[in-house]
Amino acid sequence: MKKISIVINADDRLGHISPEIYGHFSEHLGRCIYNGIYVGENSPIPNTDGIRNDIIEAFRNIKAPVFRWPGGCFAEEYHWQDGIGEKALRRKIVNTNWGGVTEDNSFGTHEFMRFCELVGCKPYINVNVGSGSVREMSEWIEYMTSDAESPLTEQRKKNGRAEPWKLEYLGVGNENWGCGGNMRPEYYADVYKRYQTFCHNYSGNRLYRIACGPSSADYNWTEVMMKNLDSNNVDAIDLHYYTMPVWPEMESATDFDDELYYKTIAAANFSDELITRHSEIMNRYDPEKKIGLVIGEWGCWHKVEEGTNPGFLYQQNTMRDAIVAAIELNVFNRHSDRVVMANLAQAVNVLQSVILTEDDKMIKTPTYHVFDLFKTHQNNEAVYCYTQNENMSEGKNAPMISVSASVNEKSMTVTAANCSLTEEAAVECSIFGFKASSVSCRILTNEAHSYNDFDCPDRVSITEHTAVIKDNVLKLNIPPCAVVECVVD
Ligand code: AHR
Repeated sequence: MKKISIVINADDRLGHISPEIYGHFSEHLGRCIYNGIYVGENSPIPNTDGIRNDIIEAFRNIKAPVFRWPGGCFAEEYHWQDGIGEKALRRKIVNTNWGGVTEDNSFGTHEFMRFCELVGCKPYINVNVGSGSVREMSEWIEYMTSDAESPLTEQRKKNGRAEPWKLEYLGVGNENWGCGGNMRPEYYADVYKRYQTFCHNYSGNRLYRIACGPSSADYNWTEVMMKNLDSNNVDAIDLHYYTMPVWPEMESATDFDDELYYKTIAAANFSDELITRHSEIMNRYDPEKKIGLVIGEWGCWHKVEEGTNPGFLYQQNTMRDAIVAAIELNVFNRHSDRVVMANLAQAVNVLQSVILTEDDKMIKTPTYHVFDLFKTHQNNEAVYCYTQNENMSEGKNAPMISVSASVNEKSMTVTAANCSLTEEAAVECSIFGFKASSVSCRILTNEAHSYNDFDCPDRVSITEHTAVIKDNVLKLNIPPCAVVECVVD
């Protein structure tokens, strides 16, 4: 048992935890949309307007605040007009990025907006810069958000939607340093400025314009964006970082040894350094923090599951992934002064999914349960935490305990992960600036390789956990490989 001392100072506020930090990403990739979220109106699987009821319910339960769509790289070849109107007449295309399968465009703008309405979340639409045009983008914005009389708004009405939708988040391109056109940052900054000129605010709608940000540690990309853009023409930039511990090699999602487990934990913790360094660059140009940092794609990217289409990026999801999710969400909370949104890649059946489906069956992965444990942070104020004695006895290159804390007028939420595979943590958490009277905790814990599958959907699930509060000190033991949420009143 290792003693860990944590100090939380509720008077030391770090930033507002935007609910969108708990966002998701849904691309036309593999079985994320088709045979995942969307099964069509005629499916025997219970659905509302073609969208699976069990998935709607699952995302409502974790208070999913925002979904990014339609990609990803797919967005850079997506032409929105293909995905509206009579379904039988919609133009079919080949999904060149993801498996070369035929995309029938039966899930388009109306279906995505309906999905968001059913889940109760905001849409984040990523437009096509690499192979699209300014006109195509500006017409899509008009189609979605204008209530003026025009051929486009008439077309929307004819397609069944009288009122314009509210659309806040608009991504102007995806990975334009790669699949979005292989651009230099200087070139993209100019292209971005041209596109954003035509991002009009119709009928009281206010767009939040998100520019393509860096890949991982490409600090030069951030520098060039910040040098060329300002808060008049951009609201946020979108960083992508995947946890890939032995890149460029790929490793199995379920079959890993202790060394690889700890490498994964270290790779997840790297996002703290990454966000700190990108933020330092942003601070130089934007000390008032008007421009946000979005982490538009994050999560573990493992080898695809054997026997599945390599272009579909389907992988299982173990307690190791859950620990990674907890580390990342704690990092985002602690950087909530700059991080305004994050989107786990991806929502269903792709990469580090929160949900997996097989025909009519649906399971919640360990990562889903982490989102459940963290949901009370949404809209709270992040507060300062300091952890002593945090290194793992095994001498691994990562802290044993990952933690973040936040408060609202009534309660404090503390989330912590014990990343050790062997050692239990005896945590003593001294709380300042908040009167702590009672506590209730929940835990997700299991052996690192354990996962939920269609035969055993609840092998990894949340249970109650014991903790005590005395003299404003929260005491609890956290077993190895566990994620805990404590709500203190
Ligand atoms: O999430 C899978 C892919 O990863 C996305 O399409 C792309 O943006 C990123 O490279």
